[in-house]
Amino acid sequence: MVSVAEVLAGLGCSHAPSIAHVYDGRKTEEPEWKPLFAAFDHAEEWLLSLGLDALVCIYNDHIDQYSLDAWPQFAIGVGDSFEIADEGHSPRPFPPVPGHPELASHLATELVAAGVDVTVAHRQVVDHGILSPLPVIDDSWAVPIVPIAVNVIFDPRPSPARCWQMGQALGKAIASFDASTRVAVVGTGGLSHQLTGPDFGRVCPEWDREFLRLIEESPEELLSYSLDDFARLGGEHSVEIVQWMAMRAALPKGSTTTFVFYYPHQIMGYGIAGFSPPARRVEV
Ligand SMILES: [Fe+2]
Repeated sequence: MVSVAEVLAGLGCSHAPSIAHVYDGRKTEEPEWKPLFAAFDHAEEWLLSLGLDALVCIYNDHIDQYSLDAWPQFAIGVGDSFEIADEGHSPRPFPPVPGHPELASHLATELVAAGVDVTVAHRQVVDHGILSPLPVIDDSWAVPIVPIAVNVIFDPRPSPARCWQMGQALGKAIASFDASTRVAVVGTGGLSHQLTGPDFGRVCPEWDREFLRLIEESPEELLSYSLDDFARLGGEHSVEIVQWMAMRAALPKGSTTTFVFYYPHQIMGYGIAGFSPPARRVEV
């Protein structure tokens, strides 16, 4: 029996633009991509079976919503809906993604009260940080989202430990909302990838597998890592894994993985992992 608005599930997943290209190009059944999309199908079936009222999506913007004018460390979207970003080839043909302004406003208030000075966005576009995985885990926009952006782009950036703190405050904020609201938290980004310089295309399966082990079994060990550590171990752009850490920190204590999928392919270490609180763990 759920007595408070607990987090019912957590999902960590990659958000590479290749996921969107393959999905839009209807290539998900091709042999090289089928394993990845079969894992996403599994994640979709599992998440939607929970009867969710909201997906809190922790991601990073790629200079589509925010700009060099001002870049927030953490930002939350409180709008009724979110337009699709134009990332250079006109927006993908989706309707605006529905938001959950009541939950989002509550989370904003509680995060600030907890010492996380989150920027509040009343008008917001969402880019591939959310839109690469979202159609694959909810193809009809059945569940409203609350987007929470993390700065992994411009220094100074929040440390992995600070992202963990934000996630802990987020979990408490969700728990203090209306008890009937069923929430899952998604953290997108990574795993290993390096998109610039002489190491372009470097994928690091050994570190990715270690990260997946740590995020399940011993996530607080990750608090001692710096962003530079993550960049050295998994490539400069792999620091997005702090969004998995924030997701993990928002889950009830004792949560464990219900499934883990890892697929190093081309220039990405793709990862997808589902987490459940102890009482809800189902072996799959
Ligand atoms: Fe990204």
